Amino acid sequence: MDTAAPSSPRKKITTRTFQLKKQRQEPISMLTAYDYPTALAADRAGIDSILVGDSLGMVVLGYENTLPVTMEDMLHHCRAVARGAHTPLLIGDMPFMSYQSSSEKAVDNAGRFLQQAGMDAVKLEGGRERAETVRSIVAAGIPVMGHLGLTPQSVHAFGGFRAQGKTAAAAKRLVEDARILQQVGAFSLVLEAVPAQLAKLISEQLEIPTIGIGAGIGCDGQVLVTHDLIGQFDRFVPAFVKQYAQIHAIVLEAMQHYHLDVTARAFPADEHSIFMEENEWQALLTSLEDGHDG
Ligand code: KIV
Repeated sequence: MDTAAPSSPRKKITTRTFQLKKQRQEPISMLTAYDYPTALAADRAGIDSILVGDSLGMVVLGYENTLPVTMEDMLHHCRAVARGAHTPLLIGDMPFMSYQSSSEKAVDNAGRFLQQAGMDAVKLEGGRERAETVRSIVAAGIPVMGHLGLTPQSVHAFGGFRAQGKTAAAAKRLVEDARILQQVGAFSLVLEAVPAQLAKLISEQLEIPTIGIGAGIGCDGQVLVTHDLIGQFDRFVPAFVKQYAQIHAIVLEAMQHYHLDVTARAFPADEHSIFMEENEWQALLTSLEDGHDG
């Protein structure tokens, strides 16, 4: 596989590209990234969109869930991603309590993602209860992606990380929420951990593209947490994840070898060291001797 950067840069992906892809029934690829090298790789791999997800809290910062993640955490990592990726649509995830208490606060915080962190859009969780918030942010000129189904910021309300929309009543509520989010101006919607038939139905009913995670093949695009996909998250692998690499094992092995080399004095070898020219070295020794004598 060619790992070099493409010679002619791809055209920037925008929310309009998302819309066109939906109309042309072209699947949208999206991944999370939280740092410069991952963003760079995602861009070079041709990924359409990067989500700087608040999953950051779990897979990078080591928290049990996403709730402790702050605006400052998010902006810091969004900036790193924006330095690495120029083509994908960049979406910043609004952290817990950055948009729930008032629409004014939500607009201010959403604006910071674009003004201070190089993002193109924001994502927030929730359905009808967030309608006014989404409307206000969109009215400020900030594209909003919705997020329905298993919304991790509601982990305590759900009683754990559980699939959603499995009963007819719960599924109907999600269909309605999806319509509401479209109506108030969301440009796209993540559907997380919902039955595949339901995600397909919602995708067919909406004019905006749906991006699925654990929601089957019927969505308009797919997203995964990159640390799950590359096997870098050590705690668990969600059942809906396809792992394309086992990076944790590779990194572990490399670090074990390094540790062995250092403790056996096998690293650094001459080729990893710098040396003075012999004449400079001898001059140093002589001058040190002279200084000693004097
Ligand atoms: O935070 C995140 O990474 C997300 C995705 C799982 C959609 O919200």
